[in-house]
Amino acid sequence: MQQRRVVILGGSGQLGVELCREFERRNWAVQKFDRKSLDVTDANLVESVIAQADPQVVINSAAYNQVDIAETEPRAAYDANAFAVRNLAMACRQVDARLVHYSTDYVFDGTKGSPYVETDRPHPLGAYGVSKFAGELYAQAYLDNPLVLRTSGVFGPAGFFTPRGNFVELMLRLAKGNAPIRVVQDYVASPSYAPAMAERTADLVEKGIGGLFHLGGGEPISWYKYAELIFDLAGLSPALTPTDAREYRTAARRPQYSALSNSKLEQAGIKPMPPLREAIKDYLEAREHITAHRSS
Ligand SMILES: NC(=O)c1ccc[n+]([C@@H]2O[C@H](COP(=O)([O-])OP(=O)(O)OC[C@H]3O[C@@H](n4cnc5c(N)ncnc54)[C@H](OP(=O)(O)O)[C@@H]3O)[C@@H](O)[C@H]2O)c1
Repeated sequence: MQQRRVVILGGSGQLGVELCREFERRNWAVQKFDRKSLDVTDANLVESVIAQADPQVVINSAAYNQVDIAETEPRAAYDANAFAVRNLAMACRQVDARLVHYSTDYVFDGTKGSPYVETDRPHPLGAYGVSKFAGELYAQAYLDNPLVLRTSGVFGPAGFFTPRGNFVELMLRLAKGNAPIRVVQDYVASPSYAPAMAERTADLVEKGIGGLFHLGGGEPISWYKYAELIFDLAGLSPALTPTDAREYRTAARRPQYSALSNSKLEQAGIKPMPPLREAIKDYLEAREHITAHRSS
C-alpha cells in the first residue's frame, strides 16, 4: 500500500512537533515545515509547496499566538491566523487535500460560566480571538468538510525550546527566582497537553472525521489551581498567592471562563484526554529527559 502523505505547518511549535512525531509513528510520510521553510502568509509559496507535496492531509498548527501584542499589531495576527488559512484552504482545494486547522477557546467571551460546546455562539474579545475566528470561517468557506479543532492553554515539551514557551515553563522559571508568584484565580481554562492532542488529531484524521470539534484538556481549572498543581507535581514550594483580573491587568481582554467541553469529540468515538495531573506528570518527565540529555 502506498504511504499516506501529510504536510504539517508550524512544525516547530509545541503542537507541530508532536503532530510530526505521531504521524511518523503511524507510518505516514510527513513533510514538516516551520516558519523559516514556509511562511504561511506567503500565498504563492503555500500554493506551490502543497501542489508539489500533493498530500492527502494538510495540518496547520502555525499561528500568531501573542494575545497581548496582537492588540498593537492586529494586522499581523490577522495575516497569520486568518488570511493564511484562506491561502491554505485554497491550496488544499487544488489538490483535494483535507485541511486540519486549530483554533482557540478565545473565540468565546467567557461569560457562559460552564464548558463551551461547539454550538455556543463565538464572541471574541480582542484582535487575537477575532483573527482566529476568521481563520475558522475561511477554512469552512473554502472547503466542504475541514476539521477545525478548538483548543485551550496548550502545553507540550517543545515549549521548553520555543521562544514563548507555555504556562508550565513560565511557572518553573518564576519558581527559580525569589519573588512571590501571583496567579489569577478568577480565570478558568482547560489546559491541553500537546502529545495527547496530536494522538486524538491523528485518530480523527484516520477515521475520516471532519467538522468543528473542541479538543481542550477536558478539565476546567483556574490558572491559580493549575499553578498549584504544577508546583505540587514538580516538588516545589515557591511563595504562590492568588490574584485577580482587577489587580492583574493585561493589554488584551480575555475570556474569564474559557474551558471547552470535549463531549462531541468523545461521542465521535475519540478517547478522552488524560487527566491534567497525569499530563503534567508526563510533561515533567519529558522535560527531565530533555534537561538530562542536554547536560550529558
Ligand atoms: N498555545 C496556546 O496556549 C494555545 C491556546 C489556544 C489555541 N492554540 C492554538 O493551537 C495551535 C498550536 O499552538 P502551539 O501552542 O503549538 O503554538 P506555538 O508553540 O506558538 O507554535 C506556533 C508555531 O507557528 C509558527 N508560526 C507563526 N507564524 C507563522 C507563519 N507566518 N508562518 C509559519 N509558521 C508560523 C511559530 O513560529 P515562530 O516561533 O517562529 O513564531 C511557531 O513555531 C495554534 O493554532 C494556536 O492558535 C494555542
